[in-house]
Amino acid sequence: MRQELTIALPKGKLFDKAAGMLKKVGFEAEGLSESSRKLVIANEELAIRFIITKTMDLPTYVEYGAADIGIIGKDVLAEEKKNVYELLDLGFGRCRMMLAVPEAMRREKLTDYAHLRVATKFPHVAEQFFRRAGIQVEIIKLNGSIELAPMVGLSELIVDLVETGRTLKENKLVEIAEIQVSTARFIANRASYKMKYDRISRLVEALRQECGG
Ligand code: PRP
Repeated sequence: MRQELTIALPKGKLFDKAAGMLKKVGFEAEGLSESSRKLVIANEELAIRFIITKTMDLPTYVEYGAADIGIIGKDVLAEEKKNVYELLDLGFGRCRMMLAVPEAMRREKLTDYAHLRVATKFPHVAEQFFRRAGIQVEIIKLNGSIELAPMVGLSELIVDLVETGRTLKENKLVEIAEIQVSTARFIANRASYKMKYDRISRLVEALRQECGG
């Protein structure tokens, strides 16, 4: 009997590529779309179930076994630090997590930014970066539109994801330091990986072939 698999996909920028790559290796379901009102979409014939989660919540679903496996950005994994297996770098969704500042406020050295405020969706990653650099700052957690913060004086600095660089440019922000590079990762619940090893490892191999990883 085929082992049933629940697969978590994140809303947002990774959704289409993640769903597309799974489809290529035979994991698909009718009506699977980011805009779907249904958050659980099953394909009973294939014994799979997709769930669509908020990006930041996806590792939690996998950690608790509500989903057996999932696809999520390394940026989110670094921030959420959940107890899951990271089995494969899928290569797509490449972006860089950057420290940036308004052009007009650019200073010479990183240490010149001590004691300023930093707005970000990634407070843990930002905090770790500044701690390692030995610089004390105040971190302000936001949920999106981070580039607004320095425009209205909420913060002087931001830690945010940069993909094409357009958002920074349009808001007259410049990069000062790269914190980490992120790509999409295939993750699994620890117990599921053992209990459903055959099916999950075959899927990982198929995805590895697909992404050339
Ligand atoms: C992300 C990120 C930047 C933007 C970067 O935001 O936080 O704002 O994309 O992309 P770019 O370098 O190609 O311009 P997202 O669109 O996910 O929305 P958010 O700002 O609400 O988080």
